[in-house]
Parts: sequence; structure tokens; C-alpha cells
Amino acid sequence: MDELVALCKRRGFIFQSGEIYGGLQGMYDYGPLGVELKNNLKRAWWSSMVYENDNIEGLDAAILTNPLILKHSGHEDTFSDPMVDCKSCQARWRADLLEDTKCPACKSSDLTEPRPFNLMFKTSVGPIDDGKSFAYLRPETAQQIFTNFKNVVDSTSKSLPFGIVQIGKAFRNEITPRNFIFRVREFEQMELEFFVTPGTDEEWHNTWVESRVNWWEAQGVPESSLELYEVPADELAHYSKRTVDIMYKFPHGVEELEGIANRTDFDLGSHTKNQGDLDISADVMPNNASNSKLAIQDIDTKKWVVPYVIEPSAGVDRGILAILNESYEVQELEGGKERTVLHLKPHLAPIKAAVIPLKKNNADLVKTASELKKSLQKLNLGRVVLENSGNIGKSYRRHDEIGTPLCITIDFDTLEDRSATIRDRDSMKQERISLELIPEYLIKAMNV
Ligand code: GAP
Repeated sequence: MDELVALCKRRGFIFQSGEIYGGLQGMYDYGPLGVELKNNLKRAWWSSMVYENDNIEGLDAAILTNPLILKHSGHEDTFSDPMVDCKSCQARWRADLLEDTKCPACKSSDLTEPRPFNLMFKTSVGPIDDGKSFAYLRPETAQQIFTNFKNVVDSTSKSLPFGIVQIGKAFRNEITPRNFIFRVREFEQMELEFFVTPGTDEEWHNTWVESRVNWWEAQGVPESSLELYEVPADELAHYSKRTVDIMYKFPHGVEELEGIANRTDFDLGSHTKNQGDLDISADVMPNNASNSKLAIQDIDTKKWVVPYVIEPSAGVDRGILAILNESYEVQELEGGKERTVLHLKPHLAPIKAAVIPLKKNNADLVKTASELKKSLQKLNLGRVVLENSGNIGKSYRRHDEIGTPLCITIDFDTLEDRSATIRDRDSMKQERISLELIPEYLIKAMNV
């Protein structure tokens, strides 16, 4: 983990937030390469969900959330972790993460009894901070998908089964943020709420578990590094009938990368004003604040149905950590040398290709390199850079370390024969290619 954290800082992937003022615990900022990697991961997820499935639609809802939503979703009452205080040094800990009954900071055994600590952040809304006008920062992106259920159904004429997805920030006042970007207080989620006819939910649940494992594999996280964890009944979230967690071998241990829950009709049922005409199987409270019926008419029977929900919910930041961990390698080279390389899948690589003039600031070389860079950039495959450092060896090392799949060197022969040397990141093999064939070469390399 330490090596990864150091690489992330050195090369501009991830920084401690507010570092110049001592940082803020549980917050990280994504740097120039981190933001590209993150956007590429989110784009791959969005594409696999929305563009590859005509029955899945996207949403981008507000982060600040009406407290009534989180009251009826059950989060105000139940979204908490057990917390203990150390009476000696006043440190606070998550009771369920303590290895023994001692304070990890001062080793005192004088701890309070565990008590629930609600994880939601609150902020005041409007010009008067009287404690009454407040909103929550959403603890999951899911709730606004449920509250927009009718808007999406009415505007897109969907019928079951169908899904709504959202990617965005979620906030949790974690008692003990830890392990770099694994457990933080501000993070991003990629969530699908997949609405199905009650009775078909268990089969859909299994289908989504399989599909999500395959997707992680396509991002470079092999099945051999993943485990499925059947969450025991006494650990299930208040809305879940069954949850399967996809666990990954993170550098600090095997932990959750994504959760896939069967949320039944709990959420739609909880946000619905039921006037006795709907069958809701989940144990929901009467809701007189909502003015909506979050149900859909069955196309065959014409009966109103409150759908069940299957929810694959993945953490973007945990995904980034898993992908970086899988792709990181320090290779021994001949002559006792070594190189660090990130074997990122080409579609995730922050920079797709680097065009490098052999000699720094040589007008002819730089002109040819810059024309090639422009033509490759226009392919819209992602970022292509012109690397005018004049040191080929150093450029190769830097681009290996940040996962750039191809380096293209423009040398003096290029000016004569209109060809350039392409070097492959993983094999380090070099080949000479005509400049006019390089765009096609890059397109092929990106689709592997
Ligand atoms: N809507 C369901 C939900 O939020 P969750 O298991 O609490 O379920 C889903 O969160 C995913 O969000 C997790 O699998 C994890 O990847 C990510 N996640 C949750 N809490 C996190 C935190 N404090 N820091 C980073 N990622 C987190």
C-alpha cells in the first residue's frame, strides 16, 4: 500500500486533500492523472450499463437531500455504526473494527459501551442557521433514484424489468476513515437500481452478481482476486432481503468492493402514499408526507405493482484502488535494473499515447510530433500528449509508471521516411510504423 500511495502522489494520481494545511482526515483529491483514470472507469461503467442496455436510463440528481427522504428511507433511524470512546485519551473508534477490547491509540481498556453514531452529514440551507432548515449530504446515490422513479417512468415509458443508474458523490461521517481511499468520508458511487416484477427478484439478483464480476474482470481485476461474500442475515442493511458482496484482495486485506442487494419493495414502498390499493411486502411505515404512488402498471394484467429492486452498488474509489493494485508491478530488468509499470487496460489508461521527439526543441522533430499528436487526439480515444523532454529513456520510464500503453518516437529518420518507432508498454517491443498507419494502430491497441 505504501508504494502505491507514494506512486499516486509522485505521479499526480491522488493527493491528501488540503495537505498544505495539514490535510483533512478521510478526504482525497484526484490529480491530473487520477481524474483521467477515474473518468475512464466511470465512462466504462456508464457505457456497460446505459449504452449496452436499452432498458437502463441515467440520472444525475442533487446531493443535498430533503430530510424527509432520509427519514422515510430509514436512514435517520438506522444508518449508524457502533462507536466507543476511550475514557483515557478521548479517541473514538468503531466498536466492530476493534481487534480487542483495548484503545488502539493508548491501549487503555477503559472504553465506553458501544452506542450508535449516525453517519450522515448535515448542513444548513438558506440564510438563517436556526437548526430547522437543514439538508443531508446524501449517504448513497440510490435514494434520489427512488424518488425520481415516477418521473423516469412517465418520461421514458419504461416497463418492467428496467433500471435507473447514477454516478456521483456520497458522504459518510466515518468514525475511523482508513487505508488510503478505501474508507473515506467523501467518495463516489456507481449505482444501478434495477426494478423487477416481485417473484423474479431472486433470479435477477444472481444474474447481476455474475454480470458485475465479469465487468470487474474486464477492468483488469481478475476473478481470482475476487471473492463472493454472502452477507449473514444479522448483518444485512435494514432494506435488504439478501446481499452478496464482491470482495477484493486489497493490500490491507480482503474487503468489500461492491455490494449487490435485493432491496425488495422496501424503498419504493417507503416513499409511497399507499391508500390501501397496493401490495407492499416490506415492513414500511405509513407515509403521509409523500404525494406519490411509486408503482407501475403491469402491461398484461394492468394491475399496479410496486417493483422489487436489485441494486449493484460499486465504489469508484475502491475500484480505482483495486485497479491500481492489480496493475502495479516492479519488474527486474537485465543488468540489475528495474522498472515500475502500471499494466492498466488501455481504455482506463490516463494517457493513451505519448509522442516523443528524439531531440528536445528541435523545430522539425517537434513540428512532426505535434502534427501527429493532433491527428491522434482527434480520434477521441482519450488523452494523447506531446512529450518534449528530449530524454527518451526517462520518458519511457515515466510513461511505464503511469500506464501509457504506447510511446511513439519521432527521430531524424522520420523526417526522411515518414515512419516512427512505436514502443509497447507491456512487452517493451519496438516496431517501425508509417506515420499514416499510426491512427489505425492506436485504434486497434485501444480496443484490445
Ligand atoms: N446504496 C447501497 C450502498 O450504499 P454500501 O455497501 O453502503 O451500499 C456501496 O456502499 C459501495 O460504496 C461499497 O461497496 C463501497 O465500494 C462504497 N463505499 C461505501 N462506503 C465507503 C467509504 N466510506 N469510502 C469509500 N467507499 C465506500
